[in-house]
Amino acid sequence: MSTLTQQEFCITLSDLAAFLEMNPAEVKKKAESILGKKLKTPLHSTWLMPEEARRIVLAQGYKYPKKVISIQMLKGGVAKTTSVLNMGLRAAMYGARVLFIDLDQQANLSFALGVEDESLPVWVDIVEKKKSIEECVRFIEPHVDLIPSSLNNSVLDRVLMNSNRNWAQAVKAPLEKIQHRYDLILIDTAPALSATNTAVTIASDEVILPVNPDKFAFLGLQKNLSELEDIKEDFELSFTNKILFTKFDGRENASHELLQKCIESFEGHLMKGYIRTSSEVKNSVRSGKSLFSGKSSVKADYDFVTREMLGFC
Ligand SMILES: Nc1ncnc2c1ncn2[C@@H]1O[C@H](COP(=O)(O)OP(=O)(O)O)[C@@H](O)[C@H]1O
Ligand SMILES: [Mg+2]
Repeated sequence: MSTLTQQEFCITLSDLAAFLEMNPAEVKKKAESILGKKLKTPLHSTWLMPEEARRIVLAQGYKYPKKVISIQMLKGGVAKTTSVLNMGLRAAMYGARVLFIDLDQQANLSFALGVEDESLPVWVDIVEKKKSIEECVRFIEPHVDLIPSSLNNSVLDRVLMNSNRNWAQAVKAPLEKIQHRYDLILIDTAPALSATNTAVTIASDEVILPVNPDKFAFLGLQKNLSELEDIKEDFELSFTNKILFTKFDGRENASHELLQKCIESFEGHLMKGYIRTSSEVKNSVRSGKSLFSGKSSVKADYDFVTREMLGFC
């Protein structure tokens, strides 16, 4: 069982009403008729379980996408893990069925979800055929599962390179067995151009590249994008690339300059939403907390990009 609180995997009726652009009283009536039970007021403290939110969202005509999305960037510290964690949890709150896969041996995503156990099976055990993918899946909360990582995955790249089997399929092939259970499969990766990340790309329908206004950010982004283009060509893939601007600071020139450069260079690929910098986010992943348990202003930013990821806006 995870350390998540109700605020981190359930949604309030008032948040759901805001998303559906419906009057809260109207949503309450509708929800009561769909769920067949009376709901309490006030609506901002009436929590819906993911399955309940799902039934209401589906009744409004929304459809959940079925996608494998990886978050990649060869630079560390660009908010890959923070973004995977918060977008995945928020998507589950909206009723999506989410599987997180941690493929970074630093295992920050696993820690954030309360899984810190070196003896648990991880991806390298699947590749070496010691475990089945089903045995690696941990239940976190309703609608949220995790295949954790640990330092044991640090040999994964070497294992892939020495393998006689088709290493390029080492993520995609096992996933095919359990993919039907989820809407979104979100893969967090290590900051590297590696065989593991190539196998992740081959399994991805979409790759999100977070970029933050740091020295070398633009260079790193260009290098990563050109690597992805090569993989796309070599393996005849058709995944899409999206760039997510993170740690945007409206008071700093560097943020405006990089944003401008990204708009000019990658217009169609830049996500509409972006993430502002906030001191409340610092170390949130390390402390095992998602943003949805606090009052951070960045919560609204992750809410927006989650809807964008779900195709809900
Ligand atoms: N919007 C933000 N504002 C301020 N700090 C952030 C923000 N997003 C992430 N951080 C911090 O930046 C650091 C790196 O984030 P992390 O998600 O671990 O990056 P990565 O996975 O790319 O290495 C962490 O300390 C995290 O708390
Ligand atoms: Mg990380």
